[in-house]
Amino acid sequence: MLLIKNIKELLQIRDKNVKILSGAEMKELPSISNAYLLIEDDLIKDFGPMDRIPTVANATIIDADGKTILPTWCDSHTHLVYAGNREQEFVDRINGLSYEEIANRGGGILNSAKKLNATSEDQLYNESKIRLEEVMRLGTGAIEIKSGYGLTVEGELKMLRVIKRLSENYPVAIRATFLGAHAFPAEYKEDHKGYIDMLCNELMPKIAEEKLAQYVDVFCETGYFSVEETERIMKSGKEFGLVPKIHVNQFTIIGGIEAAVKAEALSVDHLEVLNDSDIEVLRNSKTIAVALPSCSYFISIPYTPARAIIDAGLPLAIATDYNPGTTPSGNMNFVVATSCIKMKMTPEEAINAATLNGAYAMGLENTHGSITIGKKASFIMTEKIASFYELPYSFGTNLIDQVYIDGKVVS
Ligand code: NIG
Ligand code: FE
Repeated sequence: MLLIKNIKELLQIRDKNVKILSGAEMKELPSISNAYLLIEDDLIKDFGPMDRIPTVANATIIDADGKTILPTWCDSHTHLVYAGNREQEFVDRINGLSYEEIANRGGGILNSAKKLNATSEDQLYNESKIRLEEVMRLGTGAIEIKSGYGLTVEGELKMLRVIKRLSENYPVAIRATFLGAHAFPAEYKEDHKGYIDMLCNELMPKIAEEKLAQYVDVFCETGYFSVEETERIMKSGKEFGLVPKIHVNQFTIIGGIEAAVKAEALSVDHLEVLNDSDIEVLRNSKTIAVALPSCSYFISIPYTPARAIIDAGLPLAIATDYNPGTTPSGNMNFVVATSCIKMKMTPEEAINAATLNGAYAMGLENTHGSITIGKKASFIMTEKIASFYELPYSFGTNLIDQVYIDGKVVS
């Protein structure tokens, strides 16, 4: 057993029946000042105020000495497995080209697909694990990773096998999403049906058989997958046990949110553009909105209207979108800070969005996202800070002293 004493503030303490936070609930971040935390193996066994600290025989005692503890970040949307970088496109954008213009020239997702298909599975694993280790040190304890840079049977399976291998070799909780519908490869430009047939009839059965994914994603967007195509892929995914989680409303509003809610998607992600009827559709649904503010930051597009979403009483999660094109960063600390600075979320709302709601957005709310007895002992110990407001305030400074995942220190 591990007993941590003298914690200045133990944040995000929740009863196990709290699974998601909506609207005004997001304003509260329950905590205990001057607290202890007891860990048994990989789980949280107990916590409470220091004046009630138990005596535990043979426990290893750690003195937090006035540091703060909060659950590890739950990053519910990433494309962390990819080959090579796209720094040339970054410079092209600085010089005036738009994301769309770059994609139309064969850059963008197709550029990453070309690189990925020329990379061996071992090489892809080695590149990806470096990124995974980095985000673990930055406090991420649970993460969703998508395929979508293969766009061929072999390439997509290669990505999903790498994700599986990462989940077997690292303590961080990993959820896998099949995103074959990320873009149409050049050879299928005029044959959308042919490509979608391949995804649904060839790839999905293999993915289900090898149990390579829990979710199915589609880039529902003008110039990518139409609402009708998205509906077909979600329906087919569900037949193979894959729950929809959809990229939608990044650049244009085409009705994808309504389709995703009808298909009982777990989440709708991006939402940089959003109208009142989208918000109405999300009300009374089980689908959670996910904002990706570092994507907005990096490619200079609008920020998801977090205030409108939360003030409408809806839940919101925030995630990195770590990918080589629109967000080459997996830093959830930056996401939390940017949510406060650019989306006018309070620190309490941002931390709720990055922990419990992030866990919900990848189906991990029973094991991650809060300091709860019986949940995984995955938490961040900060440097000495005056209050947790310093975390988003001192954006760009790493205020993490140590990260514990499943009860063990990440080194
Ligand atoms: O979430 N929008 C679609 N997919 C990714 C970016 C893909 C890329 O440019 O490689 C995103 O932003
Ligand atoms: Fe994405």
